[in-house]
Amino acid sequence: SDAASVPALVIGTGYGGCVTALRLAQAGVDVHMIEMGMAWDTPGADGKIFANTTTPDQRSFWLRTRTKQPLSNFLGFPLDKDIPRYTGILDAEEFSGITVYQGRGVGGGSLVNGGMAVTPRREYFGEVLPTVNPDEMFGTYYPRANAELGVSVIDPAWFDSTACYQYARVGRKHAQRSNFPFVYVPNVYDWNYMKQEAAGTVPKSALAGEILYGNNHGKKSLQKTYLPKIAATGRVTISPLHRVTSVVPASGGGYTVTMEQLNTTGGVVTTKAVTAARVFFAAGSVGTSKLLVKLKATGALPNLNNEIGKGWGDNGNVMCGRANHMWDATGALQSSMPTAGIDNWAAGGAFAEVAPLPTGIETYASFYLSITKTSQRAEFSWNAGAGRVDLSWQTAWKQTSINAAKTIFDKINAKEGTIYRTDLFGIYKIWGDHLTYHPLGGAILNKATDNYGRLHGYPGLYVMDGALIPGNTTVNPFVTITALAERNIEKIIATDL
Ligand code: FDA
Repeated sequence: SDAASVPALVIGTGYGGCVTALRLAQAGVDVHMIEMGMAWDTPGADGKIFANTTTPDQRSFWLRTRTKQPLSNFLGFPLDKDIPRYTGILDAEEFSGITVYQGRGVGGGSLVNGGMAVTPRREYFGEVLPTVNPDEMFGTYYPRANAELGVSVIDPAWFDSTACYQYARVGRKHAQRSNFPFVYVPNVYDWNYMKQEAAGTVPKSALAGEILYGNNHGKKSLQKTYLPKIAATGRVTISPLHRVTSVVPASGGGYTVTMEQLNTTGGVVTTKAVTAARVFFAAGSVGTSKLLVKLKATGALPNLNNEIGKGWGDNGNVMCGRANHMWDATGALQSSMPTAGIDNWAAGGAFAEVAPLPTGIETYASFYLSITKTSQRAEFSWNAGAGRVDLSWQTAWKQTSINAAKTIFDKINAKEGTIYRTDLFGIYKIWGDHLTYHPLGGAILNKATDNYGRLHGYPGLYVMDGALIPGNTTVNPFVTITALAERNIEKIIATDL
């Protein structure tokens, strides 16, 4: 039965994959979705589906025996601890110069992310996707993505009064005193639910520090938006704990997709093959790039062009903390969903979000994730000797991002008479410059593919995810990934099917 033939197969169940599957199914096409992570629909021994940030366990990390938390230290103490190896939700994938955090499971990155749902400013859209018509994106596809994802902005009156955003109000005050534009950052969290959390009338999620390892309530991940609509079509099958390893042209037309079924310790239970008329790569920037680079280099898909694996960027991610004065307490209760931002893109190439430190104690710290303008791009390549795909990123390249972030925080520190925290990423280390949450690129639109995601060299193969985007979106990326997938699949359904 697993040698089945399907009209459309989608690799990955994140934003690009869910948009693709929903629109194909609504157009009458049967779809098989393949996801290497778990379904995340069953509670663990504690009655909860997802683990808390403060108490990570086996559910928290993808096939690791020790946690690798983005914030590795606090007040000088290392935070990481041993856990059983398990197909957990957050992958801290290590390449030579960077750790790339990604979601694993049905829903992809939507399961683990901060919910910040930001549409780029129209004047910067040409930097983001230079070959895409902005009128179509801002007239049709960004509004469609925002509506489907359930994006909204916090009620400003509640923001001004609730204890759980004291940290964000301190961030706003410091930004404004240094004359930086302050913006509310839209989010997919259900604000009414958060208000009820604050009132103590519902189980807590954002106010219990849930983020990174999943949210048990309140966050409108893909599990609450696209995935129920996909299920309602009755045309989509989802196979969790299945990892695609190969795609090759089938003798009778279409493509043979090989996959490994995994158990929850990462072992291979069995190998299967499915033949599909069309295959949509939506395994995320890293997942799609790794597959395509391997398949081109090993002769499975030799006609893919030389743009495969190129143009990868980190969206300029860099983190830092500032040590506040005792009169600028940031609060022991901090909502895990960020909603405040400092926009210094025009002057300094940095958009900084005021991020929570949901430790449950007063830290007198302001913590920030900056998205910065950087032209550094890395390339994926096949390492035949090791049998794996490498990435050419160098940690030193983050200096551009640090410099951009400093255009905001050096000025705020000078104005406030404060200093950077040096205890969050190691001992005496100011910058969280070893990671990204926003991998983008590797199969760039209009280069590795045509201007709608059709892979050159192979009719019926498509890229539908963050791999299409050339390294930087000026803001957090998932709204753009969703909107671009909506644009591309509409064209593909209209012209290819
Ligand atoms: P995505 O990564 O979502 O999905 C790909 C799926 O494919 C995954 O489920 C993966 O397991 C699966 N897969 C990979 N290889 C496979 C294979 N070989 N076989 C089968 N399945 C395979 N963005 C934002 O806009 N706002 C925010 O607040 C945040 N915050 C944030 C926090 C954290 C901790 C992370 C890790 C990320 C964010 N992001 C974010 C980034 C955002 O989540 C990310 O950009 C999108 O999820 C990417 O969407 P894609 O559809 O490209 O892939």
